[in-house]
This record gives sequence, C-alpha cells and structure tokens, in this order.
Amino acid sequence: MNDPTRHPAYSIDRSQLGAVEINPVFARPAEATEFSKFRLPASESLPETAYQVVHDEAMLDGNARLNLATFVGTWMDDYANRLYAESADKNMIDKDEYPKTAEIETRCWMMLADLWHAPDPDNTIGTSTIGSSEACMLGGLALKRRWQHARKAAGKPTDHPNMVMSSAVQVCWEKFCNYWDIEPRYVPISEDHKVLDGANLADYVDENTIGVVAIMGVTYTGMYEPVKQIAAALDEIQERTGLDVKIHVDAASGGMIAPFIQPDLEWDFRIERVASINTSGHKYGLVYPGLGWVVWRSVDDLPEDLIFKVSYLGGDMPTFALNFSRPGAQVLLQYYMFLRLGMDGFRRVQANSHDVAKFLSSQIGAMDDFELWNDGSDIPVFAWRLKDRPNRKWDLYDLSERLRTRGWLVPAYPMPADLTDVTVQRIVVRNGLSHDLADAFLESMRAEVAYLDALPAPMPSQHKQSGFHH
Ligand SMILES: Cc1ncc(COP(=O)(O)O)c(C=O)c1O
Repeated sequence: MNDPTRHPAYSIDRSQLGAVEINPVFARPAEATEFSKFRLPASESLPETAYQVVHDEAMLDGNARLNLATFVGTWMDDYANRLYAESADKNMIDKDEYPKTAEIETRCWMMLADLWHAPDPDNTIGTSTIGSSEACMLGGLALKRRWQHARKAAGKPTDHPNMVMSSAVQVCWEKFCNYWDIEPRYVPISEDHKVLDGANLADYVDENTIGVVAIMGVTYTGMYEPVKQIAAALDEIQERTGLDVKIHVDAASGGMIAPFIQPDLEWDFRIERVASINTSGHKYGLVYPGLGWVVWRSVDDLPEDLIFKVSYLGGDMPTFALNFSRPGAQVLLQYYMFLRLGMDGFRRVQANSHDVAKFLSSQIGAMDDFELWNDGSDIPVFAWRLKDRPNRKWDLYDLSERLRTRGWLVPAYPMPADLTDVTVQRIVVRNGLSHDLADAFLESMRAEVAYLDALPAPMPSQHKQSGFHH
C-alpha cells in the first residue's frame, strides 16, 4: 500500500514504465520506433503500425478454445461475424437512431419470457444488459424498491434491507449488496446442503428481506438450486408470518440450458414466487461478450419509478439500465442465434455440451485420485476434489499449473463458506469443446498426473493461487 508505484486496488506495477518496441520489419520512416506503455504518444502513427502493435500484443492472450474455465462465448460463425462487423457502431441506448435494434431487443426478451413460461408473455417487461452482473443488479433493485414501497405504505422503516442467498453466489451479488447498502445474508453451503435448498431459510428471512436469490447453475460447481423447494419454504414462512418474499432466479448459465435439456424442471415463472430471471446471452446464449438479459414476471413486478424514458420515433421508450451508451451489436447477434438455431438447434447444441460434460466427468471420476463433486448433469459444468491419499506430492493447484503449461485453463479454488477447507477443480463445457478435444484433454490430464506422481519430492507450497473461476 505504501509503494506509490503500485495501485492499491489493481496491483498494476507502475515501476515498469516500459515501452513497446516496434519490430524493425514494421517500423516506418519518420515514425516512432517505440510506444510508451502508460503514456499517450505525443504524435500520430500510421494505422498499419498501430494495428500491428495491438495485434501482436493481443496475440499473446491465451487460446480461448483451451479455456475450460470460462462460461463466456468465444466463437460465432461467419454470418454472425459479418453481422457483428456491420453493427459494431450501434449504440443500444439510441433507440431513436436505431429503432430496429430497439425492436429486436424487445423481440428477444419476449422470446425469453415465453421460454421461461411467463404466465402472460405479452404483459412482461425485460431488457438487455451488458451481462448478468448488470441484469442481477436490476433484478435486485426492483426487489428493493418493491419492498421499500410496501414498507412505506405500512408506515414502517426502510433503513435495514437484507437479501438472502447462498454463500456460493457469484461475486455480482456481493457487489449488489455492497453498492446498494443491503445486508447480504449468506446461507452457508455444506456437505449435506451443497446448494441453497430452503433448509433453515426461516433463520435468515425477516420483515427486512427484500428477496431471495436462487441460482440456476452455481458458479463454483454448475449445480442447480431447487427453486421449487426454496419457494415452498417461503410459502411456509408466509403462512406462518405473513411475509411475502419474492425470488430472483440468477440463471446466468442455466437460463439457456434448462429450457432445452431439462424442460420439465420447474424453476422459472411456472413458480409464482419467481419475480424476475436473468441470463447471460454471452454464456449459453452463444453470443460474444457483453450481453445479459433480465425479464420480470409481469410489468407489475418492475416498480414504475425505476423506469426512465428515452426518445424513440418521436415518442418515449421506457428503459431501465445502469449504463447509458453500450453496444447494440450483441443484441442483434442474439437475435441471429435465436433465428439460426430455434428450439431444436439450441437443444442439439446444449445436449452436445451436456454429453461431453458427462463423458469427461465419468472419465475423471474413474481416475484413482479424484472424487466428483457433481457430474455435469445440471448445466454442463462439473467439479471434483482430491481423494485422501497419504504422501501425495501434489494438490489440485499443482495440477492446474501443469495443465496450463499445455495451454489448458482448468482452475482450482477453495469452495465458499462453510466449505473453505475443500479445494475443487472445475471444467465448464461450452460449445466447441468436442469429444475429440475432450480426449486430448484427458490425455494431458493423465500425463500430468503421472508426471506429478513421479516427482521425487512434494511440490513447493508457496505461491499457490486460485485460477479465474467466475
Ligand atoms: C451464477 C452467476 N451469476 C452471475 C454471473 C455474472 O455474469 P456476467 O459475467 O455475465 O456479468 C455469473 C458469471 O459467471 C454467474 O455464474
């Protein structure tokens, strides 16, 4: 903190005020031969030169195909790429200039409302966002405002709102509570309750509870939380206490899996207590990053006083968003994917990822060292831990490091409260992780386990770090 060259929040080492050298092959007469890394250059350079520098730097990023850590889409087909290039200039907020993009946004969330069984899809309201994080914030804010209105109407104070959720929520919910002064009430997961399942909910819910978050596809493991069971626990609380606590379903991943793979599973607006649902278009919606969606059960579930109006075709269009300007292209890409795949196509793509996940989990579960935490039968994501074995010279962090040397990103990390002493490793199977690639991965994994087993001494224990797993 006292080192002025280090930014306390981001740990950027500013003592390295170095320069990016331009390869002599590309250096042009009268142009700079290097750029400062952290200072705006004093003069111009040719587009070719600037392109080459950025291109060469970005090339050093990892290979997205081998990234088994992220949920986010990294591939779209040539027609999508064409659309993307054609629409990269569109600003989502400018409904007046881009009325078609605005209309397509509405078509998309109405399709989602229908897919998620809104009782009256024509009477719902929704929006695109930059991702699920923003979508969750909007869902949470609507719950908060709804609770505030009810409390004020009853002449009761509104200064101590809380929200109830699993200790395994994604960090966006911690942010939501932090940014909007809401007390987060975490229900710890355990070996017996691997997800929030409604048990002991009454110990957490009270008159200041703005809502309960249920997750369809817990980030740590990919497991579904049983929304119906959570709703039943809240029904029981309402019967006893009169408190009517709504649910927001964080279906960042599961919202685009469950309707296709587990169509009979009731987790969505079929459950009356579900007020709003979000998903990430850029996860299993199969679109490039940044796109999220949030839909409310009905227009009544989004308090009117959260809505702003922007001009649209000489009139006004309601908007509810944290950002003002943001890209419109991803919305068009989502619409493209909806038209391109339809129900059947989505079913086939997601079923394929599911098959690969089940195959990989069965193979990893059959290895001597590993015990599955779950098998990828909810969303195509699964985690495993090490079985106890005396004198093992390595742990999952070491295995993660070894796999990285072969290009595979497979994070190891501790579970959240109350399971922080459990370390797991996780694979996210996305479209593009084929059976072939899965075989290649298993080969790498077996080879690296054999390498670690053959070490003459244990791996050093310092500097072990959790991989990116959000
Ligand atoms: C359950 C859950 N909620 C929210 C998010 C945040 O999503 P986004 O990255 O789209 O903001 C994630 C991301 O992994 C997630 O898994």
